[in-house]
Amino acid sequence: MQKIVIEGGCELSGVIKISGAKNAALPVMAAAILTDIPCHIDNIPELRDVDGFAELLSSLGAKVSLKEHSADIDCSSVKSVTAYYDLVKKMRASILVLGPLLARFGSAKVSLPGGCAIGVRPINFHIDALKKMGAVGALENGYINMLAPYGLHGANIFFPKVTVTGTENILMAASLAKGKTVIYNAAKEPEIINLANALKQMGTHITGIGSSEISVERESLSNGFNETIMPDRIETGTFISAVGASKGDVVLEGADINLLSYPVDLYRSIGINVKKCAGGISVSCSKKLKSVSILTAAYPGFPTDLQAQIMADLSLADGVSNIIENIFENRFMHAAELSRMGADIKIDGNQAIIRGVDYLYGTNVMATDLRASASLVIAGLAAVGVTKIDRAYHIDRGYEKIEKKLRAVGAKIWREN
Ligand code: EPZ
Repeated sequence: MQKIVIEGGCELSGVIKISGAKNAALPVMAAAILTDIPCHIDNIPELRDVDGFAELLSSLGAKVSLKEHSADIDCSSVKSVTAYYDLVKKMRASILVLGPLLARFGSAKVSLPGGCAIGVRPINFHIDALKKMGAVGALENGYINMLAPYGLHGANIFFPKVTVTGTENILMAASLAKGKTVIYNAAKEPEIINLANALKQMGTHITGIGSSEISVERESLSNGFNETIMPDRIETGTFISAVGASKGDVVLEGADINLLSYPVDLYRSIGINVKKCAGGISVSCSKKLKSVSILTAAYPGFPTDLQAQIMADLSLADGVSNIIENIFENRFMHAAELSRMGADIKIDGNQAIIRGVDYLYGTNVMATDLRASASLVIAGLAAVGVTKIDRAYHIDRGYEKIEKKLRAVGAKIWREN
């Protein structure tokens, strides 16, 4: 089991290149299932989750080649419609093959993703929506088995709660359905733009992306796509938090500040200087941070995927902060690990009360999930002494070469077995 080791106390300075967005790349990879024409993706991040998704597509019979930050996917030879548990259990995003498989082949058998550390992660909204589009389905021994013997047809879909992959699954399914689909209470996360671009290149007519009402009508899926993935706004926010905790002056090359407007306002309010600069975002911080109240919310609110990271910042802020986690029911596991480093955090249901302390102290901690591991890296950068983070594989799911990027700006961070 690999550990990430950090010797805290180094200010960061220099340039970090931001990678392509994981949560944009995965749905675009899934969209290739809709066609037998080869598709190309650029600026794809080198991550465990991307490798895992490529493995899942290959298990269906697709030809996938991942090279330096690009992917070629040919689904003309897909012959299986079953996504098996041993692949799906590692990555909830595997559910993104359900919509395209059902739309193209009229059937799909996908293992229920199972819960993950941050919550139960149900897929009832996905299933209900596909049934409204003409599919029939049943849960049987851990798999969702869906059939659309007469093909899918357009429908008006209302999501009770905003669901990012639910919106993406229906966008893909609707691209091969007969007639028009309108999605109400659709997700507005920017990562959906890449998927919509790919589907439009394939011949789907889509309006309303970025709003809560999206309409989809297929024209003729006569093309593949060549799509470039947007910069990762969650990786960007993670490094902004890192500078807030360890202090310093860093340029995030390739970052797009427009993808993070609300979080950037919040980072500025606690004392991190964030501004647009040529080629990206410049971030600097020299003073003790201020406390703040945060509610996580669907886009454009404060992203749940940046909650663990800013909790590390607030552990060292002046005063008492609180965070209300509105999206997932169990996304505070990093709090217990931060407390082992000396943080003063009380959890009360979906609320965390963080009383800032003067110092965090390096010790052995354990990563429980992807963003929790990023939170521990941030805390380790600011801590006095050496922090050892167990289960380093979590961080590799969503961050490309994070130690290399941080070492390049002065952090003392390495990996040991
Ligand atoms: C996406 O997950 C992201 N993953 C998550 O990022 C992100 O945290 C989440 O959206 C929220 O922004 C990808 O895009 C691959 P949801 P997703 O469906 O789509 C409930 C990361 O760290 N819900 O928007 O699975 C659900 O329980 C990951 O990169 C249902 O009840 O999340 C949650 O409370 C973690 N039934 C809320 O909706 C459903 O059928 C939002 O979930 C679907 C969702």
